[in-house]
Amino acid sequence: MMNSDYRPLFDLPRDLAYLNCAYMGPMPRAAAAAGKAAYDRRMRPWEMGVQDQFFDQPEALRAEAARLFGASPGDIALVPAASYGLALAAQNLALAPRQDILTLAGQFPSNVYIWREKAAQAGARMKTVSRSANQSWTEAVLDAIGPQTAIAALPETHWADGGRLDLAAVSDKLRAQGGRLVLDLTQSLGTARFDLAAIRPDFAVAAGYKWLLGPYTLGYAYIAPEHQGGRPLEEGWIVREGAEDFARLVDYSDHYQDGARRFDMGERSGFQLVPAALESLRWLNALGPEALNVALLERTRALEEAVRPLGVTCDTPERAAHYLCLALPSDAPGDMAQRLSREGVSVSQRGARLRVTPHLYTDDADIARFADAMAAAIA
Ligand SMILES: Cc1ncc(COP(=O)(O)O)c(C=O)c1O
Repeated sequence: MMNSDYRPLFDLPRDLAYLNCAYMGPMPRAAAAAGKAAYDRRMRPWEMGVQDQFFDQPEALRAEAARLFGASPGDIALVPAASYGLALAAQNLALAPRQDILTLAGQFPSNVYIWREKAAQAGARMKTVSRSANQSWTEAVLDAIGPQTAIAALPETHWADGGRLDLAAVSDKLRAQGGRLVLDLTQSLGTARFDLAAIRPDFAVAAGYKWLLGPYTLGYAYIAPEHQGGRPLEEGWIVREGAEDFARLVDYSDHYQDGARRFDMGERSGFQLVPAALESLRWLNALGPEALNVALLERTRALEEAVRPLGVTCDTPERAAHYLCLALPSDAPGDMAQRLSREGVSVSQRGARLRVTPHLYTDDADIARFADAMAAAIA
């Protein structure tokens, strides 16, 4: 498919270059339509199939999410937010006094606060990894891992500079020292193949409303088989054995449903959310993350080339294919994102960088609009 073939699948006005998928992915028309149809069904609960709405749809979603992680459906829990999945990880990993929890400098707070709390409770320490200007995050993390590292709580793509971590290398070193790996994949899952066998995380989570192009308040957590006997955050009725038989719910069961299902959030069947999310994940899986990665790299390269003549470049070593963070010249105005917005370009400013994150719908006209708007904003 050409870029222009993807545009009609989204509701993107021609006078806007939406380069802000890392902020919020636009839902495809088909996903929004599925969500609207789900709201319509909610007006007539008597028409809603119990098995379908409560069980089959969430199972179908679990299966699509599993494909993105390269996992089995039973390894996936449905969660409302990345922070929820990370809280699951924190609750189920051991930590001793004076051990370290490793995070990156400037890491997204959902993957920081929970670890500060856990460290404080255990008498353990937070170790924040910084990188020098020419150093990759992978090098910095590999340097920082030591015998004291109990947990490394990391992303695959740094949300503010777009640097990519070689998680297989990190995992090898970490495991050799006995450490555990927890991942926030919110800024990467769905944009590249996730090599589960090489990376072997203990827990990995992703919010669903960015690169997964889904509704807000529905995300996914991978839980490695060895942790699937752990403690959920809630004790919901639907994750217990026999929950399909509504007439016998008070024949209380001491057993959970199989695999990671016990970790599902309460009301995980999310009637209004699940059909929309399912549509988006099916589309992404049908495209295939490998092909998507190639296409997104082509677009970020084109965007990078378009502003190179202005002296604006990406200085992040080993940047992720889908994620372009541009270092602004020191005399650039402080309100670049607002200036670009006035020219019909949507991007985010994170620290001293402009975060430019396209998707398949980004075409040559968007790239030209971005270059023109940058020239006008910097002049
Ligand atoms: C890396 C990363 N993780 C998580 C989130 C969202 O977190 P939560 O789902 O906990 O609201 C964001 C949002 O910007 C993010 O960039």
